[in-house]
Amino acid sequence: MKRRTVLVAMAAAPLGAMLPVTGFAQGKPIVLGFAQVGAESEWRTANTQSIKSSAKDAGIELKFSDAQQKQENQIKAIRSYIAQKVDVIAFSPVVETGWDTVLVEAKNAKIPVVLTDRAISSKDDTLYVTFIGSDFTEEGRKAGRWLVEKEKGNPGPVNIVELQGTVGSAPAIDRKKGFEEIIKSDPKFKIIRSQTGDFTRAKGKEVMEAFLKADGDKINVLYAHNDDMAIGAIQAIEEAGKKPGKDIIIISVDGVKGAFEAMMAGKLNVSVECSPLLGPQLMAVVKDIKAGKSVPKRIVTQESIFPMEVAAKEFPNRKY
Ligand code: AHR
Repeated sequence: MKRRTVLVAMAAAPLGAMLPVTGFAQGKPIVLGFAQVGAESEWRTANTQSIKSSAKDAGIELKFSDAQQKQENQIKAIRSYIAQKVDVIAFSPVVETGWDTVLVEAKNAKIPVVLTDRAISSKDDTLYVTFIGSDFTEEGRKAGRWLVEKEKGNPGPVNIVELQGTVGSAPAIDRKKGFEEIIKSDPKFKIIRSQTGDFTRAKGKEVMEAFLKADGDKINVLYAHNDDMAIGAIQAIEEAGKKPGKDIIIISVDGVKGAFEAMMAGKLNVSVECSPLLGPQLMAVVKDIKAGKSVPKRIVTQESIFPMEVAAKEFPNRKY
């Protein structure tokens, strides 16, 4: 299971002045303002680390802010980057909608914007140059396909509880959509409960406790939109006297080291990969924009899926 990261060109978007392709524009370092979502998960910590270290390696001056999962904080940070006249603004939008006003302000100030990790929902795709990140719908489909295969021959019903990510965020919307698209092919699959755990371990545990209280013995499968919520839920399942990975099949997304440890302990059945290591691609794109080169409108990260059976073999290769 090798993971490759490739660039996929879907449309070209020229932007930026003709400047040398280095981390420097007209002798000064390129200044990048990055508005991060927060520090809600192991994934996010690795993503922040990747952005910071690759900016350093690329000679790009990074202004970094943490929005603590609040859209208004991200909007404030973007406005402050506009006021500081940074060369490029990049951000991972906490939710999909509500960005047009601030992005029009960036456009009017002639500051190119790059979306990383999460997309926005807007009719105006001139508000950003490119979007670098995973295909979350496909991640949901991968989770669904794995479950359909696993339950082949079982007449059902297969009762599923779902821990959704942050309400209104692209990964929560798309991972749900992709998973449902696959499992709807067989009516034996039933999502009996679905609630947000906000992508955190603490919330994942809390919501799973409530699911167990309400439906205890009926639950056959947990689908968690990220590993952190699955890890929190594993704790709740154990505290309820059940065996995670056996009494309840657990599927999650990200492929962080914590998930591999849980898989090696037999408590998590599968993790769909979502790579947070977007820093090097982002810095390359920032340089291209400043050099006036065309960049693809969509850059998709290619990812794999790791069932527990391969966890021990893959663990030494994991970088996050
Ligand atoms: O946007 C990516 C998602 O955000 C990751 O799956 C999750 O762990 C993070 O918090």
